Amino acid sequence: MSEWTVVRGSWSCDDEGKIESAPNGPILHLVFDGKSPANTLSLPCLEELGRTLDEVEEFSGIEALILSSAKDEHFIAGANIEAIEAITDSGDATSLAQIAQRVFGKLGELPFPSFALIHGTCLGGGLELALGCNFRIAVDAANTKIGLPEVNLGIIPGFGGSQRLPRLIGVAKALPLILGGTRLPAQVARKRGIVDAVIPPEGYLTVSLNVVQQIVKTGGKKILSARKMKRGGIKSWALTKNIIGRWFLRRAARKQVLTKTGGHYPAPLAAIDLVVGSASRSLQSGLREEARVVGELAVSGVCKNLIALFQSSERARKKTGPENSEHGEWPERGFLGILGAGVMGAGVASTALQRGFSVRIRDLGSVPLARGLGQIAKDVNNLVHRRRRTRLEADEILSRLTHTSSLVGFGRCDGVLEAIVERLDVKQRALQEVEPYLMRDALFLTNTSALSVNEIATAAKYPDRVVGLHFFNPVQKMPLVEVVAGEETADWAISRTIGLAQALGKYPVVVKDSPGFLVNRLLMPYLDAAVRLLQLGVPGPQIDRAALKFGLPMGPLRLIDEVGVDIGVEVAGTLYKAFGERAKPSDLLQQFADRGWLGCKSGRGFYVYSGHPKRRKEYRDWNGEVEVLLDGKSSFQPTSDELISALLDPMVDEAARCLEEDVVENAEAVDLAMVMGTGFPPFRGGLLRYADETGLAVIVERIKQGQSNREPSTLLSELAMRGATFHGSQSEYPVNKVIG
Ligand code: NAI
Repeated sequence: MSEWTVVRGSWSCDDEGKIESAPNGPILHLVFDGKSPANTLSLPCLEELGRTLDEVEEFSGIEALILSSAKDEHFIAGANIEAIEAITDSGDATSLAQIAQRVFGKLGELPFPSFALIHGTCLGGGLELALGCNFRIAVDAANTKIGLPEVNLGIIPGFGGSQRLPRLIGVAKALPLILGGTRLPAQVARKRGIVDAVIPPEGYLTVSLNVVQQIVKTGGKKILSARKMKRGGIKSWALTKNIIGRWFLRRAARKQVLTKTGGHYPAPLAAIDLVVGSASRSLQSGLREEARVVGELAVSGVCKNLIALFQSSERARKKTGPENSEHGEWPERGFLGILGAGVMGAGVASTALQRGFSVRIRDLGSVPLARGLGQIAKDVNNLVHRRRRTRLEADEILSRLTHTSSLVGFGRCDGVLEAIVERLDVKQRALQEVEPYLMRDALFLTNTSALSVNEIATAAKYPDRVVGLHFFNPVQKMPLVEVVAGEETADWAISRTIGLAQALGKYPVVVKDSPGFLVNRLLMPYLDAAVRLLQLGVPGPQIDRAALKFGLPMGPLRLIDEVGVDIGVEVAGTLYKAFGERAKPSDLLQQFADRGWLGCKSGRGFYVYSGHPKRRKEYRDWNGEVEVLLDGKSSFQPTSDELISALLDPMVDEAARCLEEDVVENAEAVDLAMVMGTGFPPFRGGLLRYADETGLAVIVERIKQGQSNREPSTLLSELAMRGATFHGSQSEYPVNKVIG
């Protein structure tokens, strides 16, 4: 079945906005109705487009070609990602890129002008196709998003984008768009010079015909000279038309990228060379180089890892709950009640309000309530300062927030989240207090970090609607939430909570009610390993540097300071109680807590901090007094690699235990949770992909000989013995079911 349809239409549209067919009309419509729901570009569809363009080139009496999509939500969402994932030969990727370049090149060389009519997502290959057209018209709809996000998948725009975009809008403007993978709304894309005209969504097919007619009449002279003006200017000349300017631009961009990525991501660096290079080479030579580079990148491990993560995050974004869970949907623009206006309560409230929810928040006294409300107002007002929202929009957002110190008004809530102090009796009391006010199908959600959801639910009249919804701090920035299902939690309640998390823009990972859930349980052995290395005589800053070099966002000792030493002691204690000897924490943290060295909040932990607690982002110095608590220096002088294995091997083993115990569904969920919840380096694909790459047998051997109190888990040992991996098909995953 063909994906491209040619309609020879007249200037007019009928009442429903459809194009009237007029066999001798001067306008050709080329409509893409791809096999995939997102209208993605595959090799067969590119080849079909090429053949179609060869045919239409021969038509006579044509004044313009308009290329559009038959789908409401998507113009073209990009190249087919599964196809890129499957490529193992760089030559195949290069030739795919060359085919796309050739076909898109044809669009601009037809005997009549070509127009891309962009409605919905126009990303990656979709924009590259549009860039091949002579003109671009975008519909000013909320779902119109325009950009080249390829670097996020470890590749570069390889269908001509790295060459055509800088030629259209100038190198200096194209670079940040390509390096940031930014998605622009229609109006912004017009301001940047990517699209030539923006039209309203109402009756856009009819309107676009008028716009096309106008442009055809004038030969698009106005647009072409506006493009020249935008691209030109003394600054652009100084930066791109001479070798020193280009050297300067390249160096500055590389420096920025290297600071941000530590050099772990080859795609942005390659994109800089291509985009800056476009100013000094012909289009043909630029396209050749682009195809060669995309071929190399598409088969790299970084690209495969980033694609795997992208796909698992998409699955989490679209995840549904257990099958047949009736009433399992979170209502659109739902009503969320929040107990506790502290750090987490206020954070969730801000996020929910910005996502269209109505929020009612309660705290016990007027002081904490006022503090929370102040924080929420500050978050929303910041959106105005950063020009994300207008003043009017911000006022509308805040108008959906109500507050109380009683429980009046909670009867209208679709769900209530408690974010109050971390004490079982207090949380149970709050549950009992609020329950009589709730509708029967309203959720009771707990944001507990370490308490058992099952235990909290014992206080409930209706335990089937009690669910854990564990956010991470800061709520607005951290994309992960753990959805914790208790033994009595109903399927509908799990489904609704998943829907709620998605409506909040978060990626839900469903975990079993077990101490530390998933993320904190995995983090603890890692943090403890860092403390033990310190006790073995490894300098603290060296441990943190090794973690940074590996790609982690901060070192483990810095992380303990950030989370709070007291909280670390508490969580470690809980896990020790639950899991025994292998989770026995080093006593150093307790000694820190006894001395009041609580990390950032007290100004001293592993590092010494100065300034206001909220602004203690940069540590000043290593806390020299730590050495007093250590048993003196040893001769242990590990390399960075040895440090990384000492830090991560216990984490891998603990993850295997979580899989064994069904705490989490599969290795994919573990990887997503670690990347989204802890900042585990995405280019490594997650903790268990890193483990697979390292070799499970190697890890097992190292754990046996290492300093931790653990024996490798059954699952890890079994996989290692069979030469299998967490992700590979050989593993017949989950192996615990095989072992019995
Ligand atoms: P917080 O101390 O900043 O705020 C708690 C607020 O709850 C206080 O304002 C208090 O007045 C209020 N409160 C106490 N009892 C109440 C009741 N019955 N009704 C209404 N309000 C009440 O605490 P934070 O940090 O926001 O933590 C809240 C919960 O979230 C805890 O269970 C914590 O373990 C969990 N959590 C905290 C994270 C963090 O990084 N702070 C991360 C993830 C979870």
